[in-house]
Amino acid sequence: MSRPPLVPPLKCQGIKTKLVSAIAKIADARDYSRWIEPFCGSCVVALNVQPKKALLCDTNLHIISLYQGIQSGKITAASAKEFLTSEGEKLKTQGEPYYYEVRERFNDAFTPLDFLFLNRSCFNGVIRFNRKGKFNVPYCHKPLRFAQAYVTKITNQIRQIAQVLSAVDWTFEVSDFRSTIAKAEAGDFVYADPPYAGRHVDYFNSWSDVDEDALAAHLGALPCDFLLSTWHSNEFRRNGAIDAVWSRAGFHMLKREHFYHVGSSEDLRHPMIEALVSNFPMTEQPEKAPEQPVLFAVEGKQITGHLRETK
Ligand SMILES: C[S@@+](CC[C@H](N)C(=O)[O-])C[C@H]1O[C@@H](n2cnc3c(N)ncnc32)[C@H](O)[C@@H]1O
Repeated sequence: MSRPPLVPPLKCQGIKTKLVSAIAKIADARDYSRWIEPFCGSCVVALNVQPKKALLCDTNLHIISLYQGIQSGKITAASAKEFLTSEGEKLKTQGEPYYYEVRERFNDAFTPLDFLFLNRSCFNGVIRFNRKGKFNVPYCHKPLRFAQAYVTKITNQIRQIAQVLSAVDWTFEVSDFRSTIAKAEAGDFVYADPPYAGRHVDYFNSWSDVDEDALAAHLGALPCDFLLSTWHSNEFRRNGAIDAVWSRAGFHMLKREHFYHVGSSEDLRHPMIEALVSNFPMTEQPEKAPEQPVLFAVEGKQITGHLRETK
């Protein structure tokens, strides 16, 4: 089944919107009963693969709370619309100070809707927390951020996700990857998308060589299939873990090129080669991604590709 990908309401670094079709193609060729993601982030992959049963985990409790809120019906398209419209109006009239007021409020009470507001009005739509676990991304300097069309777009995303969640059996948990992977059983499929070592380091994303080794050991010992995505190389350097960790016997690797827009100017657009690693032979060579700039998420941009039928 081919249709435009579902875009989640949250933006996050390393979001795999551009890899969804390749991942879905590979997973679709495997037989599994439960999808497990130890690093679910924005959940864009699960939302598009749409397995019937899934365990979606991340250490970032704010992401998990938002999805749990949508799943339980506590957060709906209507409640998000009302919230973003009224908060957006205050941002419009009060500007930057209001963004920082919401940021402070969030860092006191940690409510999912404030998190959504900040994620969609902070600089570059990134998720970053300081060492004390406080959100610290500055303002995007767009007081008209929550114009009606933008609010409608976000609330439509929430509505679509609520529809998906009502038809599936998914569990969202705050969990370290070690505990998540330990829950995998024969017949599961684990998709792992860890933070890139040395990039985007923050409270929820400190990632070391020790973590990378531990992840490889946990994945290598799984009683089921796994697929991992990580960065392979860019024009400046190669990920040392590709040879040191992910090229071991029994692992298989595919490469896929796409573009990350890592700065504010078009000059800073850099091609990035992603690696997909598995413990089963991957027969399909993922196609080269269309060449277009990506600012973490490619909102509204269409990826053609195969999407998994819900089992
Ligand atoms: C590259 S992002 C995942 C992006 C996701 N696949 C997407 O497309 O949106 C990595 C995620 O790992 C989470 N994370 C970092 N360290 C972790 C750990 N030790 N255990 C579980 N999750 C972790 C981060 O909070 C982040 O959401």
